[in-house]
Amino acid sequence: MPSHSKRGAEVPHSPIRSLLPYAKAAKAQGKHIFHLNIGQPDIETPVEALEAVHKSTGKIISYGPSEGIPSLRETVAGYYEKFDANLTANDIYVTTGASEAILFTLLACCDPGDEVIIPEPFYANYLGFAQMGAIHIVPLTTTLETQFRLPEPEVFEQLISPRTKAIFLCNPGNPTGQLYGHAELQKLMKLVRKHDLFLIVDEVYREFCYGKPFTSVLSFEEMEENVIVIDSISKVFSSCGARVGYLITKNRHLQRIVDKYAQLRLSPPYFGQLLAEACYLHAGDYIERAKAEYDRRRHVLYEGLSSIEGVECYMPEAAFYNMAGLPVTDAAHFCKWLLTDFELDGNTVMLAPGNGFYFHKEPGKNQVRIAYILNEQDLRHAVECLKEALKRYSLIYGEYSTGKVVVREWE
Ligand SMILES: Cc1ncc(COP(=O)(O)O)c(C=O)c1O
Repeated sequence: MPSHSKRGAEVPHSPIRSLLPYAKAAKAQGKHIFHLNIGQPDIETPVEALEAVHKSTGKIISYGPSEGIPSLRETVAGYYEKFDANLTANDIYVTTGASEAILFTLLACCDPGDEVIIPEPFYANYLGFAQMGAIHIVPLTTTLETQFRLPEPEVFEQLISPRTKAIFLCNPGNPTGQLYGHAELQKLMKLVRKHDLFLIVDEVYREFCYGKPFTSVLSFEEMEENVIVIDSISKVFSSCGARVGYLITKNRHLQRIVDKYAQLRLSPPYFGQLLAEACYLHAGDYIERAKAEYDRRRHVLYEGLSSIEGVECYMPEAAFYNMAGLPVTDAAHFCKWLLTDFELDGNTVMLAPGNGFYFHKEPGKNQVRIAYILNEQDLRHAVECLKEALKRYSLIYGEYSTGKVVVREWE
């Protein structure tokens, strides 16, 4: 048999999808699952945008420009004015979701063996994309105790080596739901300029900030050479399947490279781009309504989690995630058990094990990421399920007490 690539074998599985076979089996047994494991919004896609796609009169679905349809790029440049970003259409590359923008960015900034510093926990797919390019992720661990706040720039600086090419942030954070403010970003901006690095910021959750204002790194005047922003319509407009994202940079050298990558894959999705443009132009107050809905759910989830003995959590500032610590020693085992062995009136809950969002697996071992992408009523039921599950689990596997969990052998 021909041998496959070592690189391919080493790319990690998505931690978010790793429990799917158990979920499938649970459903086959007739269980209903409250899905809190995946960042797939349940809010409907803007109807005006769907109509624009239905009305499309094209007779041939042809390739489009590799960098994206001009009118969409213009529209997106206009959208960024509200974030004080002075962009032209030329600074915006339409990609096949933020996912492709992440891959293009890493492959445009780094050679094999180069390093990128990323605060952990981080969106798990960064690791897989980096490994596809033989790029090393250098994690900087942030903690639940400090609500995953960014450390001072000196801590980043200690990790900079001759191979470091970039600092990569997710702001607002997935999985943490935390928001880095203007002052923190300004300090990092200074650091990347001092060391001549790129600052890559994934801003796909920018519209869902509940209190503190959002600062885009595109608003910094000195950002021209150093900054790359990743964006997407997947979350903002509940359009994950449209596969439209953006890579945004004013760095002309990077743009020339991204041009070539974009040409290699010919063009971004045609219908997705139609939908995206209509979202910006015709969706009215859609974003405000979606944000208000997530905000209500954020409170429901936080209050629910806070009422469960032994659960460590905080009120997230943004996005639609809460990274909570559970009174178990191995959250991955607990998440699997929820699907295989637990039910409450025919229901169970699916959560994303926290360790999949860390490079170092230990710090996230008792954590789970909970996405509040269910309506308030379902969310309350899901929290009840979780509460009951933790009680039963502790009876089987260990004592269930705040701060001190004694676990019996389970394998
Ligand atoms: C932080 C972050 N970046 C990127 C993506 C991928 O987005 P897209 O659907 O646009 O590829 C996700 C999806 O969950 C995400 O959470």
